[in-house]
Amino acid sequence: MSERRDCEQVVTAVAHPNIALAKYWGKRAGQGNFPAVPSLSVTLSGMSTTTHVQFDRTLAADSVMINGEAQYDSRVVALLDRVRAAAEFRLFARVVSVNDFPTASGLASSASGFAALALAATHAATLEWDAARISDLARRSSASAARSIFGGFVELDAGQESGDERNMLAAKQVAPIDYLPLTVLVCVTTEQKKSIGSTDAMTKTAQKSPFYDAWLRDAPAIHASLKSALLARDRQLLGELTEASTWAMHATAMAAGIVYLRSATIDAIECVRSLRASGTAAYMTMDAGPHVKVFTAPEDAPRVKRELAAVNGVLRVIETQPGEGARNLL
Ligand code: PMV
Repeated sequence: MSERRDCEQVVTAVAHPNIALAKYWGKRAGQGNFPAVPSLSVTLSGMSTTTHVQFDRTLAADSVMINGEAQYDSRVVALLDRVRAAAEFRLFARVVSVNDFPTASGLASSASGFAALALAATHAATLEWDAARISDLARRSSASAARSIFGGFVELDAGQESGDERNMLAAKQVAPIDYLPLTVLVCVTTEQKKSIGSTDAMTKTAQKSPFYDAWLRDAPAIHASLKSALLARDRQLLGELTEASTWAMHATAMAAGIVYLRSATIDAIECVRSLRASGTAAYMTMDAGPHVKVFTAPEDAPRVKRELAAVNGVLRVIETQPGEGARNLL
């Protein structure tokens, strides 16, 4: 194996989180981290992860710092191992990553984190991979990260391991950033890490939830209707189906004892419902954490933001819009 000097440059990539409208929840049995259901998300500007990667011959192991803290995450090492295998070298990497929003608390930091890492690491290793191949690499560590490689509205199909590492499953853009004007208000309800990570929570859901089979059966239909609503620019139907997907996912997980909702979560949902009752179109979603993300038309955003910021337990509201995919910084 050759260890080329040009692989020792520092490469920086930035990626945004994405919020699923049609949720991914559940993995296919076997290797490869293939999702059991299709999902559709929107990549968000206004929150980002910046990651620097350098392969360095003086390192005796990979060194990973996230928000200034040394971390060990087997999914990071697995991604770097795949890059090393493809580049045919053995150099360890120095990874320094910073999020400008709470980490590992259900704000999709793994999506932006693994998207930025996949892009920076492949470029640092001088691999000339297209976006689909980088998306597939990110997906193997965090399926939602496959979607953050692309901007605007993005989908990821369900997949199936074939026993062959070359069996790719990449996300793809279904509509560009400006396809449907939207403001997404992210209500932060805690700065703490989540109680149970999504991988463990998905495993527990598959093992214990009496509703898991129903989720696997219904999620593809919600995804297909939601995609049609998006392509028809029907914001109301898109909002209703986003809420349907959210409740189906959370109800399925809750039946296995996994509860991400807190009192502030419920209060923020009530706020969204009362806004709707008084004629303002706003729709909510939640992921593997207690935060509430609210979709609304840009013209209604100031009012909706004011109301959400006044909810007991909402620490702050981050205003975001559909944003770009992951990119390298020079
Ligand atoms: O890819 P992960 O392990 O971060 O799982 C993401 C799961 C949800 O955020 C709850 C849903 C989704 O589709 O992003």
